[in-house]
Amino acid sequence: MASRAVELKNVGFETGGLWLLRGVSAEVDVGQTVAIIGPSGAGKSTLISLINLMRTPTEGEIWVLGQEVRAWPVRELRQRVGMVFQSPVIFPGSVRDNVLFGLELHRRPPRDVAELLQMVDLPAHLADHAAEDLSGGQKSRVALARTLAMEPDILLLDEVTAALDVHAKREVESTLLRLKRELGKTMLWVTHDLDQARRVADEVWFVAGGRLVERGTPAEIFNEPRSEALRSFLAEGGEVRS
Ligand SMILES: Nc1ncnc2c1ncn2[C@@H]1O[C@H](COP(=O)(O)OP(=O)(O)OP(=O)(O)O)[C@@H](O)[C@H]1O
Ligand SMILES: [Mg+2]
Repeated sequence: MASRAVELKNVGFETGGLWLLRGVSAEVDVGQTVAIIGPSGAGKSTLISLINLMRTPTEGEIWVLGQEVRAWPVRELRQRVGMVFQSPVIFPGSVRDNVLFGLELHRRPPRDVAELLQMVDLPAHLADHAAEDLSGGQKSRVALARTLAMEPDILLLDEVTAALDVHAKREVESTLLRLKRELGKTMLWVTHDLDQARRVADEVWFVAGGRLVERGTPAEIFNEPRSEALRSFLAEGGEVRS
């Protein structure tokens, strides 16, 4: 397998005459966790949505597991690159239905639901419960189990713990970290929670105004910010709006 999971080469995305992202170049190694931080409206969600072709780059190239995104058959790309959102997508029906939904959609054989629930630290007996009755943290983990059922190599996580209380947040976080440790998943993890970025990231990317302004280890980003933009973002506790 390629040692680079993702390589962005001068990537830009324009819509309606506006460049939401411009000149982004960076790479993510296989097994690495990158936390993406930055003000609201900076382009963080836009950036990760380009990696599984939810949106198509206007300029530049994105190489995913050794192949340019547009060269991948979309279905296969979305299998290799899974995405999880802030508000877990939950369908009417049982937890089992919800976990197996992606496999059905892709016409792949069902998998052992108990095993998938175990991967996200949920008890097997929940399989027959109505998914809509679960707690927020449990729903997040069901949505994660649905994504993991597809056996993605790369996970795109968009503020997956933002809607959770402190306890549920730490639980989902430790589930994700265990997946990284045990299964070597590569993660691009957008978060507004700077302490979370410190805890989970091998590398942090600071995005502001549609640019990748700085990248570095958590220590570099949080202790030795180089740009004025990052310094003021950190001084405001990450709450600055762009
Ligand atoms: N389809 C679109 N057309 C025009 N502008 C858009 C579109 N989608 C997003 N935007 C704008 O692009 C900018 C970047 O949006 P994006 O969702 O990537 O930001 P973000 O960093 O994820 O913000 P947040 O932290 O609030 O989620 C924002 O100003 C947003 O309003
Ligand atoms: Mg966003």
